[in-house]
Amino acid sequence: APSPLVDRFGRVHTDLRVSLTDRCNLRCTYCMPAEGLNWLPKAEVLTDEEIVRLVRIAVQQLGIGTVRLTGGEPLLRRGLPELVGRLTEVGAELSLTTNGIGLARTAAALKAAGLRRVNVSLDTLRPERYLEITRRDRIADVFAGLAAAREAGLAPVKVNAVPVRGVNEDEIVALAEFALEHGYRMRFIESMPLDAQGAWDRSAMVTADELVAVLGARWPLEPVRREGSAPAEEWRIVGTEQVIGVIASVTRPFCGTCDRVRLTADGQLRNCLFATEESDLRALLRGGADDAEIERAWRNTIARKGPGHEINSAEFVRPARPMSAIGG
Ligand code: GTP
Ligand code: 5AD
Ligand code: SF4
Repeated sequence: APSPLVDRFGRVHTDLRVSLTDRCNLRCTYCMPAEGLNWLPKAEVLTDEEIVRLVRIAVQQLGIGTVRLTGGEPLLRRGLPELVGRLTEVGAELSLTTNGIGLARTAAALKAAGLRRVNVSLDTLRPERYLEITRRDRIADVFAGLAAAREAGLAPVKVNAVPVRGVNEDEIVALAEFALEHGYRMRFIESMPLDAQGAWDRSAMVTADELVAVLGARWPLEPVRREGSAPAEEWRIVGTEQVIGVIASVTRPFCGTCDRVRLTADGQLRNCLFATEESDLRALLRGGADDAEIERAWRNTIARKGPGHEINSAEFVRPARPMSAIGG
């Protein structure tokens, strides 16, 4: 039986986020420059074999139960349904966070391979604005991907939007209406200082309080009791089963109940989204380490985990890796 991954603060880590690639087919202005970033060379990216081994150790020895596949854009990874199948066999409950491009083509295969659900990023409903934000004219692919995920039974399909003042904040209600109408679960996320260019501006971030005020003016809302460690605060539209989520990473941090650990596409283990140090599991894997050594490295990383991020402190230091190379 696995022995749980507990840190100094008693937080039990049961959720793993695995970045499958640092590449992306969009260039969202709040995330990366138009020219893209210096992508990892292929030789540095973990192979399917290596990912399966690490997830097997995580599930069988460390008590990880849920695994979220992220990017960059994880659908860019070749042979993703096969990898999903192998990870499902290992016993992980799998979900995926994607920009939705290519999802129309793969949703059914991913579901058949064992994927449970998907979260899809969509910051606007307007094609011209989508092009401005993402620098690509692909909104139709996202709509098709969302519908395909719903048809495939990857439920609940969640829609993630990052509202930015002066960019898309005027669409908060429209995005929620769109999600309600189509049977998706809407979530709004406070933007975090994790963009590649260091351009984050607190005053452009739409706070959770503002979001709840805007949504509350449209629908009567009541809070849903939060279960365990979920980042999203959920609000139910009174008299319905519909919920809208708000992820208040900056104004109401949820680090105290964090249950997450992250693996980058190049095999570096991070104990926090904002961690400034990583543990090189790829070197262990490729150096012939046995499972016990890898388990030890994993436990050491969690033992070094701090109490939480310091976005709101004067001492805040951005991690060297941007959001797109961590997987959110
Ligand atoms: P669910 O299991 O569906 O709740 O997924 P999730 O919300 O945990 O994952 P998703 O990839 O959809 O992320 C939504 C937003 O939450 C992104 O902006 C993530 O960066 C952010 N997020 C996810 N996990 C953490 C975390 O541990 N800390 C912080 N600060 N933000 C997180
Ligand atoms: N802050 C918060 N969320 C972000 N995302 C991308 N960049 C940021 C940021 N700086 C969102 C994406 C996606 C999720 C994984 O993270 O829109 O939905
Ligand atoms: Fe966990 Fe770090 Fe996110 Fe806080 S910021 S919830 S500690 S991953």
